[in-house]
Amino acid sequence: MPSLLELEGIAKRFGPVAALQDVSFDLRAGEIHALAGENGAGKSTTMRIVDGIIQPDAGQIRIDGKPVRIRSPLEAQALGIGFVHQEIALCPDVSVAENIFMAATAASRAPLMNFAGMERKARAALAELTDVDPGAKVGSLSISNQQLVEIAKALALDARILILDEPTSALTEAETRKLFAIVHRLKAKGLGIIHITHRMAEIFDHCDRVTVFRDGRYIDCLQVDGTTPEQVVNRMVGRTISKLYPPKLNRAAGRPLIEVEGLCDTHLLDDISFTLREGEILGIGGLIGAGRSELAKAVCGLGPRRAGRIRLDGQDVSIPDFATALDHGVVYVSEDRKAEGLFLDLSIRSNVSALRLGQVSTRLGLIDRSAEEAQAQRLGKKLRLKAASMANPPSVLSGGNQQKVALARMFSVNPRVVFLDEPTRGVDVGAKSEIHIILRDLARSGVGVIVISSELPELIGLADRILVLHEGRLSGEIGPDRMTEEAIIALASGLKPPVAAQKLEGTEQ
Ligand SMILES: Nc1ncnc2c1ncn2[C@@H]1O[C@H](COP(=O)(O)OP(=O)(O)OP(=O)(O)O)[C@@H](O)[C@H]1O
Ligand SMILES: [Mg+2]
Repeated sequence: MPSLLELEGIAKRFGPVAALQDVSFDLRAGEIHALAGENGAGKSTTMRIVDGIIQPDAGQIRIDGKPVRIRSPLEAQALGIGFVHQEIALCPDVSVAENIFMAATAASRAPLMNFAGMERKARAALAELTDVDPGAKVGSLSISNQQLVEIAKALALDARILILDEPTSALTEAETRKLFAIVHRLKAKGLGIIHITHRMAEIFDHCDRVTVFRDGRYIDCLQVDGTTPEQVVNRMVGRTISKLYPPKLNRAAGRPLIEVEGLCDTHLLDDISFTLREGEILGIGGLIGAGRSELAKAVCGLGPRRAGRIRLDGQDVSIPDFATALDHGVVYVSEDRKAEGLFLDLSIRSNVSALRLGQVSTRLGLIDRSAEEAQAQRLGKKLRLKAASMANPPSVLSGGNQQKVALARMFSVNPRVVFLDEPTRGVDVGAKSEIHIILRDLARSGVGVIVISSELPELIGLADRILVLHEGRLSGEIGPDRMTEEAIIALASGLKPPVAAQKLEGTEQ
């Protein structure tokens, strides 16, 4: 039986960048096929070719053994290809139902459209995944819910080939489980699913085969059964990398750097107090919606604050807006690169210097391009940013490299306190451990680092101490010898304090 989808000898250049060279791939009906590789390896580019968004320079695509040319996403949809993009591509001002419905209408080739039937299908696809209100404007939803709407959109199209480009990077554990339950159901129905992910556990728990790309080339396709995660990682990076987190400091942290007392916002945060010490990495855990980002934003002058005191170096400060936060060396790096992180149309170097134009301006207030370039080069090198030129916009970078631009910008202000919201989301295994080392070095140099992460192993591996939020309140603090996934989950799900405390004590020493 021919494969559902085959790629052979696919090549693609973007100007001087050879993004893909002689790439092959094959997907069978009824399999979940992982596509793995470092940031910039060419995973998304390959799938954009399959979806007709861009055209290959060479190579052939076959569906059911027949060569096809896919000239646009509409043609791809008509061929039964559904693509859930890495970066969310919904219309923010349009309702959830209309977003799903618009796609279905555009793809339909029936002469007469059954609008009512389509709407029913859109709602059903959505209800399978989430309880978001179909009438809500997409822009008002959390990233995780937007991601689920994207998935519902592909499901409503009756795709035979479903491409998921890092679909779980913005989802909670529970949402991820739900998604995989659906993916397995679709597999049983005979769909072929391409699952792009940086998470080894997802490959080994759910996928049948894994294809690995490196530097725009096909490296290997392995049967998951009988393969180890180390083998996959070795093919991805072409070198051995340490799986270990950088060592913790193991000494009493320094003096208090920032003290937050009784912080409340207008709708969610309730009486939150904590202290961050010099040289410390403080982890913040909790479910999506627990108020983790809101907490960071409220401290950094980016969100509504109703009550609460902030002391920096023991002095009361008022941080009414982000500019004031920056003046105090307090920075927030957003989890949402697209909406509030980067300027995707400006150059990489302008993005890096955007927070502190003073550093790259001449005395007359003009921006000094060469200073800007030098700064971007220096920070880019430190973060191993893979970019053809600092004059390009971040939109041409792979997802993980966009994250590095956001980190470079944070470094450009020489921060004292940094809040990082999901700093390694969408970042490959190699770059991820580089970022962990960078954050530990930053802490060692005396900076206070606060890391919000939904990935429990990352919180445990990286943080010196973990605060857990539940429904806008601090539900507990976990010290270095009590860090277990169970302890975090217990506090995050709001188990009654006595139960959580017993659990925590049970794991002590
Ligand atoms: N429109 C474009 N213009 C120029 N270069 C591009 C463009 N799109 C992609 N590239 C380059 O092609 C390479 C492959 O990028 P791609 O987005 O496919 O990587 P990826 O494997 O999906 O990485 P990630 O895991 O970070 O999402 C990168 O070097 C990227 O900078
Ligand atoms: Mg990608």
